[in-house]
Amino acid sequence: MKTKYTKAGKIAHFSTFIKRILCVFVVLIMLACSICGCTGEESGGSTQKKKEDKKIQIGMTFDSFVIERWQRDRDVFVSMAKELGAEVNIQNANGDISEQKKQIEYFIKKGMDVIVIVSIDSMALKANIQKAKDAGIKVIAYDRLISDSNVDFYISFDNEKVGEMMGQALVDNGLENGKVIMVCGPHSDNNVPMVGKGFKDVMKEHGNEIIDTFYADGWKAELASDYMDKNMSSVIDCDAIMCGNDDIASRVVTALSEKRLAGKKLVVGQDADLEACQRIVEGTQLMTVYKPIEKLAQAAAEIAVKMAKGEEITAAGGRTSTISDGTYEIPCLKIEPVSVTAENMDEVIIKSGFHLKEDVYLNVHDKTEED
Ligand code: GAL
Repeated sequence: MKTKYTKAGKIAHFSTFIKRILCVFVVLIMLACSICGCTGEESGGSTQKKKEDKKIQIGMTFDSFVIERWQRDRDVFVSMAKELGAEVNIQNANGDISEQKKQIEYFIKKGMDVIVIVSIDSMALKANIQKAKDAGIKVIAYDRLISDSNVDFYISFDNEKVGEMMGQALVDNGLENGKVIMVCGPHSDNNVPMVGKGFKDVMKEHGNEIIDTFYADGWKAELASDYMDKNMSSVIDCDAIMCGNDDIASRVVTALSEKRLAGKKLVVGQDADLEACQRIVEGTQLMTVYKPIEKLAQAAAEIAVKMAKGEEITAAGGRTSTISDGTYEIPCLKIEPVSVTAENMDEVIIKSGFHLKEDVYLNVHDKTEED
């Protein structure tokens, strides 16, 4: 039997029908959104993700963080790169060259824009660097030149000048026609022969004889301790000991102390480690070399970002030139080092904020009371 509707009934029946259609429509829309993820937040999220993907990606592999300065290099580099809008992936190779090779391979696989390398062995990375370059990745040698690899940029300090400063400090302290021992870093670090050349040139100029030279593999300061123990007769015979860095100088001075010779032999180093600055104001180390890490790391971050953007590299805080890596001419930036002795400790180290006065003069009480 056909249902008869009054006019009001017809209207009520029609509005129920429309409501049902609308409900079905809303359900279909929600279903479609959940399938294609097109809600405002998700689409915003995917757009945001795409923006993240566009961020410059820098991979940086360090030799190790055992030596004090490298933590500072890392922190300054990362904060500068982030300030410039890049993302940085830091890897620590712990002194293991095969690990460092793996880290470079990993950066290549991740499609980094730039790879920055503090090389463990300047002769061992040629193939890995070539692979990175073939993948269109820029490669920067940080602080240590990498041989025969045609890196895109090398940034460091004037390492020959570091050696000259070490020699000049000894000469300024009256060393003429004397006997000198060199306890250096490893042959695998391209800086070591540069520092050595600068040092030996000054020694030769002033008639000082290098009676022995030792190279500490992997910058392992404990090897310097072994050397001192086994060569104490030469040590007693010498007037001065050049140390490849302040970590080595720590072991040399400890060995001298055990023979009551600390302060009686002239000791020089580099890196301006806190303990070295303490030894200098306490009189057991003559000098160190302050290398403005902030300048180096910030300039390296600026150069890495410019390279990633395909921009021209300008002289950020130093003079750009080129240097041979043994096969290729490499664009480079060398930042000026500064010789530090007790005389200019406050002027250079304290004023720059590199170390705090109370830390440097921890064991020298009258100095801190002068303020
Ligand atoms: C060298 C660098 C030195 C020192 C050493 C490790 O490559 O030239 O300044 O940092 O590494 O202590």
